[in-house]
Formats: sequence, C-alpha cells, structure tokens
Amino acid sequence: MTRPAAPDGEGVPAIEAVDVSRTYQLDGVSVEALRGVSLVVQPGDYVALVGPSGSGKSTLMHLLGGLDRPSGGRLVIGGRDVGALSPPEMATLRNETIGFVFQAFHLLPRTSAVENVALPLVYRGVPARQRRERAAAMLGRVGLGHRLDHRPNQMSGGEQQRVAIARALVTEPTVLLADEPTGNLDSVTGAAVLELLEQLNVESGVALVMVTHDQEVAARARRRITMRDGVVVADSAGDGSTDLHDLPPFVDHGRPATLVAAPSAEPRSVSGSGPGHPSGGSGGAAGATGRLPRPPATGSGTDHAGRATGGGSGS
Ligand SMILES: Nc1ncnc2c1ncn2[C@@H]1O[C@H](COP(=O)(O)OP(=O)(O)O)[C@@H](O)[C@H]1O
Ligand SMILES: [Mg+2]
Repeated sequence: MTRPAAPDGEGVPAIEAVDVSRTYQLDGVSVEALRGVSLVVQPGDYVALVGPSGSGKSTLMHLLGGLDRPSGGRLVIGGRDVGALSPPEMATLRNETIGFVFQAFHLLPRTSAVENVALPLVYRGVPARQRRERAAAMLGRVGLGHRLDHRPNQMSGGEQQRVAIARALVTEPTVLLADEPTGNLDSVTGAAVLELLEQLNVESGVALVMVTHDQEVAARARRRITMRDGVVVADSAGDGSTDLHDLPPFVDHGRPATLVAAPSAEPRSVSGSGPGHPSGGSGGAAGATGRLPRPPATGSGTDHAGRATGGGSGS
C-alpha cells in the first residue's frame, strides 16, 4: 500500500480520531458508547487507556484498530481516512498497520505456536517457508524460541499471551493495541508480559496503546488517557505529543536479542477455552495485524520517535 505522506510516515500521526462517536443499536435501543472522542496516537507512543468498566475503552480500541467504524466523526489510520475505505481496503490497512493483543489471547487451539504467529503473513501472501522463518524469529524475540511447535493448551497463560504478542508483531505494525493484555494472568506473569510490551515499544518503535486497570502500569506509561461515559476526560499528553521523548527507566536494560524478562514460574493455565474472537472477520486478531517491528540491529540507533534504541543490538 502506498503511504500518502512523507517517507516512513515522518510527521504523520499513527492514528488520528476527530470527534469520533459510536452508537450501538441493541434491541431497538441506542447505546452511545463513544460521544465525541478526539485524540492522536503518535509513532512510538506509549499510552495507557484507563477508565471504569463501560466507559468505552474497548469500543475505542476497536475503532483505533479499524475493526469497527465510527458512527460519526473522522478516523485516520496510517494517514488513511477509514470513511473512504471499502471493507477489503480496511482489512489490508489493518494487516499493514495494526497489531492486536486481547485479554483472552485468541490463539487457534489446535495449531502450533509458530503457525499461529505465521497466520497474519498468510493474508499477506508471504511464501510458507518465509512465514515459518519470520514467525520463529518473532517467537525467539518474545522468549519462546523453544516452544515453536507447542499448541496453546501445552503452554502457560503467560506463554500463550507472548505467542499472541508475537502474532501481533510479526507483520511489523506501527501500532500495537492491547486491551487488558494481563487481565487473565497472575500478577508475576502479567508483570513479565508488560515488561515485554514495553521493551517492544522502545526497541522496535511500535506505538503501544494499552487498556489497563492497574494504576502502577498506568503510571509507567508515557501518556495516560482517561475515559468516562464515552468521552475522554483527561489526556496527559495535552497536545498529543509533548512527553513522547520522556523515556521511563526500563529503557536502560541493555537487553540483547531476546526481549523477554527472565522466565517466571507461571502456573499452567486452563487453556484453549477462550470464546471466539470478539471481532471476527478477516482472519480475526491474526488477520488484523500490520508491519514488522524494526529489528534492533538496523543500526541507526534511533526508532520512529527519534529515541535511542535499547543497548542490545548485536547481530
Ligand atoms: N456490541 C455492543 N452492542 C451494544 N452495546 C455495546 C456493545 N459493545 C459495547 N456496548 C456498550 O457500550 C458501552 C461501552 O462498552 P465498552 O467499550 O466495552 O467499555 P469498556 O471497555 O470501557 O468496559 C457499554 O455501555 C457497553 O454496554
Ligand atoms: Mg473493555
């Protein structure tokens, strides 16, 4: 897909929502889930999206990821106004731009880790051998190089979520949308998954927008957006980008190729049980992912946001 703006999306917001609304019709009743939300997600951003249950966070995430369309307002993803796109064009835009991670993992249960991760590349027409290579490499980056042929029900909850993260990133998206990604995990496992997401944000430059109920997590994000009753009531970024360059302390790990924190002792989860994918269609979460995370070794030493990339690099 051609990008309408400057090379490498320079200066173009990753996502821009202007006065976006979303009204659901349910048994003849209108539910105004979003009532005029405006925000900009910049390349490399790290946003915590917080607010009480029912405030519209998941609805907003679905819109930001192009899984759903606004009832009103303007939504621009990767420089493209979604109002002008056909459903197949939307699916392509998602595949090229967005990665999703959900609370319930949504892996295909009878399919190996490497095949789950490779799935978004099928929709891209990548040949089978390359799919497997790229999926295996991505699994290595999330610390699961030794679990390539395990099925979800042979893995712990934390491992399953790392597979889901690898699947979300194998296509190198510009934005990773994570809706309560640690909600099904114990606190130790959840912390490790979170650290992984934060490292991926810093090292590959993928913008991270994460719904969380955890105040500590929200405090660590570079930016907090608070929702209530379908509107944004606070956005710590103010103009949408001011604190983009303020890096949290976790950057200085000097972490090498594997991005995962030290393996934690996780309980095996009862798995393979999740409900169907909530968004459905076009390959579900797997189909709804985007471009590949920039490998740490590309040499420039900075990511999209112009920040120094983490120490590691090597090969
Ligand atoms: N598919 C749907 N049909 C009807 N109402 C919905 C649907 N999805 C969400 N809602 C309603 O929209 C509001 C916002 O929901 P949601 O975005 O899931 O909030 P949150 O993720 O913050 O808990 C709630 O009142 C919810 O009941
Ligand atoms: Mg929700």
